[in-house]
Amino acid sequence: MNPTIAVIGGTGMNTWPGLEIIQRLESTTPYGKPSAPLIVGRIASVEAIFLARHGEGHKLPPHAINYRANLKALADAGVTQVIAIAAVGAIAPWFAPGEVALPVDLIDYTWGRAHSYSDGEPGGMLQHVELSQPYTPSLRRALVSAAATSGIRISGEGVMAITQGPRLETPAEIQRLKRDGCDLVGMTGMPEAALAAELGMAYACLAVSVNWAAGLSPSGVGIHDEIHASIEAGMAKVGGILSAALPMLT
Ligand code: HPA
Repeated sequence: MNPTIAVIGGTGMNTWPGLEIIQRLESTTPYGKPSAPLIVGRIASVEAIFLARHGEGHKLPPHAINYRANLKALADAGVTQVIAIAAVGAIAPWFAPGEVALPVDLIDYTWGRAHSYSDGEPGGMLQHVELSQPYTPSLRRALVSAAATSGIRISGEGVMAITQGPRLETPAEIQRLKRDGCDLVGMTGMPEAALAAELGMAYACLAVSVNWAAGLSPSGVGIHDEIHASIEAGMAKVGGILSAALPMLT
């Protein structure tokens, strides 16, 4: 049987440690090739697919990722549930580097990305996809209980800002995101979430805080030093949550 769960790994998770690799699928879609081959593997006795969002070797910047090909390739492979992993900056005081959150909502500040399958192609259908719940509640609930089972603290809240990158933000931009109600900030959450919704796939994001967003670090440590210090431990938590979650999702 084809796996129905996929993990899209981002910065800090370019491979899935512990995944026993069964097959590499070199796929192509009407939108082009995904960032990397789909890795079909087994973990915790469950089969799942891994996709390296930034490509093998972590070369693709957030604005150059072919999100449409990534999500379409997963859907074509039979995936119905997508768990997106993202290393993000913290805006809310409760989200110190090393903490993990499952955001409930998002604001899209990106531009110029191919962000929809509904693009007026001849024969295509105009679809106004609903995004009232950009992160699927049932998938979020499973990930919260997986974290509880494995004794890993996770916050089940937060609004994610998605910025264009690849540069980090200015302090004034972060203050604006804060006024907008954002708690965390990353660069890859959109159009990924919307495309998953257009394809009818469940989608949730395990966000790892790897730095205080620009201008917010109480210690004044540089952002890249903060990322360096926190990313490995944060991603280890993600691995634990995923291993506990997969058997709950099949
Ligand atoms: N801003 C945007 N994206 C990020 C950050 C940040 O501070 N840290 C990791 N991804």
